Amino acid sequence: PTPEGWLAVDAYLTETLVGHDPALEAAVRDQDAADLPAIEVAPLNGKFLHLLARISGARRVLEIGTLGAYSTIWLARGIPADGRVVTIEAEPRIAAIARANLERAEVADKVEVVEGIAADVLPTLAGSAPFDLVFIDADKESNTLYLDWAARLGRPGTVVVVDNIGRAGRVAAPADPGSQIDGVRRGLEMLGADPRFDATALQTLDLKGWDGVALAVVV
Ligand code: DHB
Ligand code: MG
Repeated sequence: PTPEGWLAVDAYLTETLVGHDPALEAAVRDQDAADLPAIEVAPLNGKFLHLLARISGARRVLEIGTLGAYSTIWLARGIPADGRVVTIEAEPRIAAIARANLERAEVADKVEVVEGIAADVLPTLAGSAPFDLVFIDADKESNTLYLDWAARLGRPGTVVVVDNIGRAGRVAAPADPGSQIDGVRRGLEMLGADPRFDATALQTLDLKGWDGVALAVVV
């Protein structure tokens, strides 16, 4: 397979199954205009998160890593009007862009953007728990910490998704301790070994390159 081949398939599937959405496209535009990294999930993956929320009947969603709120909008649209997405963003400047994007998408009333380091915020969220779906998409070095909180703030049946588990193949080789790839690997090994989870993973090949998502349920 060539990049031309998989990019054409990604464009075809996106056009056919996702289509165009002004609020989502504007969110990415404003994220780019603010010089934030273009590391939001691909459209097909955003819709995958949205469908997981709907299929699981999620009402309370926890997202770790907001960025421009692209995935947040997808998730918020997948829960009922009285549902809640709590999304954690470390940088105030980014949280402000996220809030504006959520307003324009008309989901701001369902979303709480919590500013802070996730490791500090997560222990404060017991009052919003149990979460029905947790999406982990932040600093990869902390994936095991985030998975531990996903289990603690979840319940049996909680859906857990971890982004970026393939990293262009780098996940398959041992990595420097403390590095992002090492964090991804330790997160996957935790999903495989920790009796609180049952998990699988899907590789993805799309306009964001070769990567993947892990999907787990809290046992
Ligand atoms: C990076 C992080 C992400 O969450 C992502 O989806 C892609 C890339 C990164 O840090 O490089
Ligand atoms: Mg990601």
